[in-house]
Parts: sequence; structure tokens; C-alpha cells
Amino acid sequence: MTEIASILLSWFDRNRRTFPFRETKDPYRIWISEIMLQQTRTETVTPYYERFLHAFPDVFALANATEADVLKAWEGLGYYTRARNLKKTADIIANTHNGVFPDTVAGLLSLPGIGAYTAGAIASIAYDLQIPAMDGNLTRVFARLYDLHENTSRSETKEKLYAIAQQHMPPVRSGDLNQALMDLGAGVCKPIPHCDLCPLAQLCLAKEHGTQDALPVKDRKKPPVPLAYDVLLVEHGGHILMQRRKEKMLSGLWVFPLLEGENSAEIIVSALSPVALETEPKLLAEGVHVFTHQVWHMRVWHAAAKDCDTVPAAYRTAKWLTAEEVRKAPKPSAMRLAIACASKLI
Ligand code: ADE
Repeated sequence: MTEIASILLSWFDRNRRTFPFRETKDPYRIWISEIMLQQTRTETVTPYYERFLHAFPDVFALANATEADVLKAWEGLGYYTRARNLKKTADIIANTHNGVFPDTVAGLLSLPGIGAYTAGAIASIAYDLQIPAMDGNLTRVFARLYDLHENTSRSETKEKLYAIAQQHMPPVRSGDLNQALMDLGAGVCKPIPHCDLCPLAQLCLAKEHGTQDALPVKDRKKPPVPLAYDVLLVEHGGHILMQRRKEKMLSGLWVFPLLEGENSAEIIVSALSPVALETEPKLLAEGVHVFTHQVWHMRVWHAAAKDCDTVPAAYRTAKWLTAEEVRKAPKPSAMRLAIACASKLI
């Protein structure tokens, strides 16, 4: 075992963080947690993980659920492609693998939503294979340990760091080493590092050269694109219009009719035609929702319809939902303000 691995494993034995998803070797549970943890903080994930596993305790339960059930359980975690891929992978494992998870990296990589990171995490944590789970934490830790100044967004650098990490995977406890590296990255070797707390400080080339704050080198992130939307709460007699999104972003989730831009009441009236309104649309609230690549600046409007017999031509697939149906529908967090406004109307 390398010195780095040996020091880190004994550090992990003393300092490991406890999480419910660390109490198991079940590949199903590890898979669910690792997908949740990809773009979401550990503290946020824990209650979702417990609720999700209560609802879908094994891969057959997930395969038997509908996509809408899975999206509902995922509501609030964001990056809903992850939830849709969970469902697809559960179907494949239940129907073509007799419910048994593949126990090789190649087998894992063949499944929807499982990339190199997740395959490495499942292979090492569930099956003790000597495979790194390269996430942002491992990238940062190894770039610093080796004082590597190459751009970590490039595939050549990723390959180099993967090879370095692999050299440190021990014959047993690779899962623990990966998680030790994650804990080190999350608590010590953070973007602003606490080298005074680091068990590897003596072995770290960036520390020796004083370059740790400049590492890892990454592409500069593009700022998210600002978009304006008018969110239309069109209601009548306890029903409100909502639409299930077909677009790639937030696909499968229910939103109120969205009209791009900042529109006049007159334009809103014509966008809702042929639905006739009781009064002119009224502005209720304004809010912002930040996604990774977009920022939605939303104005929430109330439009009281004269009946709920038709839907607007511009929102052909919209449906009139009751308050109970709205509650049950999977909805994105971006609709939270609008939902709060709608709950006072229906
Ligand atoms: N982030 C992703 N996977 C994790 C794990 N297994 N433990 C802690 N943080 C993580």
C-alpha cells in the first residue's frame, strides 16, 4: 500500500463522517446515494436518501414505479435527468439482470446515468475493486499532492490524475480510500485549504511549493444565462392550468404556463386565448431561481378565467388541475413561489 493510502485510511478510521449511506454494502443503495450526491450536498442528500429508500427499498420497487413517482420522490433535488436515468437503469437491472447489479466497471458503465465517477464509487465501495471515484474532491487533492498545474477540465489531465489515483488504490478498502479522499476534500483540502489539519501535509508538493491556493487549474465557468418569464396562474373554480414539460430542461415536471419575456397584461390576455378572462391579469409576485446554466427572473401573474372548458391554443397540452392534483404532481423548485401564490387561489 502507498504511504498516502496508509496515512489516509488511518485518518479516515479516526475522522470519517457518518452517513446512512455509509452503513451498507448493498450496490443498489450505494448507487442511489452516489447519484444523489453527484450534484447535491451531503446534508441535503441524507433525508432524501432515507425517504427514497423507504419508498423504493430495492431495484424491483424502483422498476415497478412510474417515472412520475420517481420524479415526485426526487422533487427538490434538481438535475432531474438523474431521476429519469435511475428509473431506466432500474428497469434494465430488474428485467435483464434478474435484479442483480453488474459487478464490473464495464457492466456498470453500460447503464444509463452511470459514468466513470459512479462506476468507480459503486465498484470500490460495494465490491472493493481498486477503482478511483474521481470527483471534484479527488481531482483537487491529487492535483495538489502532485503539484499538477495542467488544466483539469482537459481529458489528458483527467487521464493523468486517474492514473495517479489508481496507483494509490489499496488491495483492500479502496472504497474507504475513495471516501477518505472525499472527506479530506470536503473538510480539509477545500478550495481554500486547511493545510494545518492535513494528515498528508508532509507529502504534499503544492504545500511544499506554496501553490495550493492556485490548484486545481480549471476552465473559467460561464455565468448562467438570464431569462425572463411571466408565470401565468390561470384559475377557475378550484382548478388551475399546468403543463407537463416536454423540453429537455425539467422534462416530465409540471409547471404553470410560462411566457418568455416581460409582457404587458394585453399580451398575456392574447397568449391565453381562447380562454376568456374575468378581469385583466394581475401581477402577484416576482422571484428569481438560479439553475447551473440559467437564471430565471420570474413575474407571477393571476388570471381568473370565466370557465375551465378549454385550454389556451399556445399551451395545447396544459391541463386544468385541482389543488390535490397540483400537490401530487412532480414540480421543480423553480415553481415554489408560484405554487405558494397558487395555493391562495385554489
Ligand atoms: N460524495 C459523493 N459520494 C460520497 C460519499 N460516499 N461520501 C461522502 N461524500 C460523497
